[in-house]
Amino acid sequence: MELKFPQGFLWGAATSAHQVEGGNVNDWTEWEKANAERLAQEAGQKWQLWQQEQFPEMFKPENYISGRACDHYNRFREDFDIAKSLGHNAHRFSIEWSRIEPQEGKFDEKEIEHYRQVILALRERGLEPFVTLWHWTNPVWVRDLGGPESKKFPLYFSRYVKYVVEKLGDSVEYWCTLNEPTSVIVNSYQRGNWPPQKRSFLAVQKVYKNLAAAHNLAYDEIHKINSGTQIGVANILNYFEPQNKSSILDKLALKIAKYYSNEEFLKLTKNKHDFLTAQYYFYNKIKFPSRINNKAEVNSDMDWGIRPEGLYYILKELKKYSKPIYITENGLADVKDDRRADFIKGHLKWIHKAIEEGVDVRGYFYWSLLDNFEWDKGFWPRFGLVEIDYETLERKIRPSAYEYAKICKNNILNI
Ligand code: GAL
Repeated sequence: MELKFPQGFLWGAATSAHQVEGGNVNDWTEWEKANAERLAQEAGQKWQLWQQEQFPEMFKPENYISGRACDHYNRFREDFDIAKSLGHNAHRFSIEWSRIEPQEGKFDEKEIEHYRQVILALRERGLEPFVTLWHWTNPVWVRDLGGPESKKFPLYFSRYVKYVVEKLGDSVEYWCTLNEPTSVIVNSYQRGNWPPQKRSFLAVQKVYKNLAAAHNLAYDEIHKINSGTQIGVANILNYFEPQNKSSILDKLALKIAKYYSNEEFLKLTKNKHDFLTAQYYFYNKIKFPSRINNKAEVNSDMDWGIRPEGLYYILKELKKYSKPIYITENGLADVKDDRRADFIKGHLKWIHKAIEEGVDVRGYFYWSLLDNFEWDKGFWPRFGLVEIDYETLERKIRPSAYEYAKICKNNILNI
């Protein structure tokens, strides 16, 4: 069967500055240095035996230091050549705040020039830039002032955004202000796994409010500079199902989890979205009060279950907002590359079904173009369409990338 996608559909992959560029100096790089030893020691408790055996890198402290990463900062042209050769017509990446404003109020024109070259390189290859302005990392001075917990965060963030958009706005049509605010709220302020490792109900509330305010202010600033541009938030949306479908308590737990993970941020930023997004990784079965199981028949190297239909249900729920929708991330860690092609096709099949039923989906960005630095897990999870040899930095296109390329080039999924 031939499943055709709408004309002009954006096909591509996503990356983020901290995970691929190398050479950054920000709150994460400092945290990595302070925590690498500990993370390496804890790997034995965190991961199952088969994962420990398959990925012994997780026991080495250097796995947890982003360092030169993929050196994408210097090799972006080579990487975009690959994306072009794979039939992509769009690419999502992020601008690193700590490069643009390394000290409070001191903006670095050289780094603006760097990102100007990045955007130009994309345009020269026929790739539409989809630009994220904050993919979790903060300049050290922002961290020292309290990071997203500080009341001043929205002001600082929108000032940086204004600077960037004034300089680069002419060549960008799509901006994502923030990447996955709720992931930061949960991992940095509720579970305490990521910097600044807090576990505080109060901090969660503050960060929720401040990130929403940061988006709202930035949205207005960008539109003041360029009214025609398209602005959204790159949001993670999880699918939830009660563990026991007849349990009232499980259903209650579902409602609460769904509200905080998928709905509240949209509510706090109402009327400040030109498009909506879905970053889909998790089909969660939830058991009261909050136990979550996302395993499936087939799972990724991180043991995350693969359930493509969850994305369809999420898209159907977004339909009521009557906005264009972009899938700004969807991907899996799969070092053997024996599940990736089916993963992509499976999700695209369900996206296509949603489109047929009237959901206005306009683009798909696989996570990720390159293997990269997976935050507190470090380098061992391999999400890339392109494999990176971290010793030599050699790029090797994985077989699944060619399968995806056929879809991108023809705008058709054959199943
Ligand atoms: C997303 C995040 C990415 C990447 C991906 C894979 O939540 O935006 O930076 O890490 O997950 O886990």
